[in-house]
Amino acid sequence: MIVKEKYYEIVDEVLANDFKGKIAVDATLGKGNDTEKLLKAVGENGKVYAFDIQDEAIDFCQEKFKDVNNLEIFKTSHEYIDILESYDLVIYNLGYLPGSDKKIRTNAMSTVISLSKATKDINPCGILIIVSYMGHEGSEEERTGVERFLKSLDQKLFKVEKREFFNEINNPPIVYLVEKKL
Ligand SMILES: C[S@@+](CC[C@H](N)C(=O)[O-])C[C@H]1O[C@@H](n2cnc3c(N)ncnc32)[C@H](O)[C@@H]1O
Repeated sequence: MIVKEKYYEIVDEVLANDFKGKIAVDATLGKGNDTEKLLKAVGENGKVYAFDIQDEAIDFCQEKFKDVNNLEIFKTSHEYIDILESYDLVIYNLGYLPGSDKKIRTNAMSTVISLSKATKDINPCGILIIVSYMGHEGSEEERTGVERFLKSLDQKLFKVEKREFFNEINNPPIVYLVEKKL
């Protein structure tokens, strides 16, 4: 498929690049679907760190990944991503965990704080994937904050791409891709 219609097809397209042995971060662990993809992308010689603030997500994933040795899960907000020194790949799948409490969701302030730290600390040629949804409380403010921040990134230092499903109805997600230049 050349033209995509699902956000995860864009994620998969990015992860099809060679990240073997690299360090990846899942900034919004949830049920661990993205973490699973990151683990596959970095391989057994790589490392994945994951953040979530919600017990349900943490408990679920601790069980799901109990036999995985190269994953470390932090029960803290991704705004503290600077507990890590550097990494090569970060994914933010923003919003709330489907089927869970919609009040536990990412928000403009902590997301932008996290993005600002991550763009500073990510290694050269590192990639950030940000998936943004609309339609829930705070989503518009969060997207505005994310876009304002990404727009402010110096084009000499970062490439930023915005991918949207242009003819889809019902608030399709937008995927932003950021690459730190060498
Ligand atoms: C859309 S879900 C993520 C889906 C997940 N990546 C997956 O594969 O299932 C968003 C997640 O972000 C978490 N979250 C909300 N605020 C957060 C924050 N400040 N830091 C880290 N995670 C947060 C929520 O608890 C929720 O699990």
